[in-house]
Order: sequence, then C-alpha cells, then structure tokens
Amino acid sequence: MAKIVHPVAGAVALVMILTFWLSTTLSELFANQSVVTMVKTAIPWGFLILVPAMMIVGASGFRLGKTWRGPLVAKKRARMPFIVANGLLVLIPAALYLSSKAQSGAFDTGFYAVQALELVAGALNITLLTLNMRDGLRLKGRLSSDPNH
Ligand code: HEM
Repeated sequence: MAKIVHPVAGAVALVMILTFWLSTTLSELFANQSVVTMVKTAIPWGFLILVPAMMIVGASGFRLGKTWRGPLVAKKRARMPFIVANGLLVLIPAALYLSSKAQSGAFDTGFYAVQALELVAGALNITLLTLNMRDGLRLKGRLSSDPNH
C-alpha cells in the first residue's frame, strides 16, 4: 500500500507547490490586481490538499525507509525536516498573510517583501521535493543512479 501511496502523494505535493509558485509569479507579472487577489485567496485552500499529502508522503516514506539502507534513503530522510520546517514556519504563515493583505487591497512594501520571501522559500521546497522524487526513482532503478551513465 505504502509503495503506491508514497509516490502518488509525493507527486500531488510537488504539483500543488509548483502550481502555487507559477500562478503567483504569472499573475503578479502579467495579470491585474483582482486576479492576483484571487490567486492569493485560493492558495491557503490548497493547503487542505497539500498538508495531508505531505503528511502521507512523510509517513509512508519513513515506513518504506525502514527496510532500505543506503545513502539515497539517508539523503531523502535528511531533507524531510527542512521541507516540513520551511512549509510550517515560512510558507503557510506567508500565504495566510498575503491572502489577507490582498483581500484588503494592501499591496504595500510588506506585501512585496513577504511575497519575495515566499517565492524563495517555495523554490527551495520545489527543489527539495524534486530531489526526493529523483532519489526515489533512482532507488527503484527507474533512473540511472549515475548521472553520467
Ligand atoms: C518529500 C517528498 C518525497 C517525494 C516527492 C518522494 C518520491 C518518491 C518516488 C517518486 C519514489 C519512487 C517510487 C516508485 O518508482 O515506485 C519514492 C520511493 C521511495 N521513497 Fe520517497 N519521496 C519523498 C520522501 C521520502 C522520505 C522522507 C523517505 C524516507 C525517509 C522516502 C523513502 C523512499 C523509499 C524507501 C522509496 C523506495 C520505496 C519502494 O520500495 O517502493 N521518501 N519516493
């Protein structure tokens, strides 16, 4: 069960964060304020899917990891606390702040400072999730473990 659930929950989590990141950058670069407000308001609702997906990927990953040894699993395990801390301490508070600022039309310095921080923290989690996906596929032999191979 964990074998199926784990990569599916991982893919859901990665797609959700990518969607938040891209809809944020694209709307803020190319769309008007009402679209930006829509995006910023929708993102916290997305946490209702993202947070359970992350909990499932972590729990199933640690369960699968019990029967595996080696550097790839160790690296995946070591990335997990950073992904979780970044999500809980930076991304969720930032998204809630940005949603309330956008809804009251306050696109001020505070909004853009927190927005910049959120994009950097989001990019970090996208990178860490992508690395965990890559190492997961390597573990299963679906990717070469030697990039030069
Ligand atoms: C955080 C995000 C994570 C993502 C996106 C992710 C993604 C994946 C993917 C795509 C696979 C390949 C599955 C397959 O091809 O059948 C995989 C396998 C695996 N992952 Fe993760 N993983 C994550 C976290 C973790 C963590 C925290 C651990 C352990 C501490 C872990 C341990 C494993 C193990 C042991 C396998 C091989 C499992 C098997 O026998 O099917 N993963 N992972």
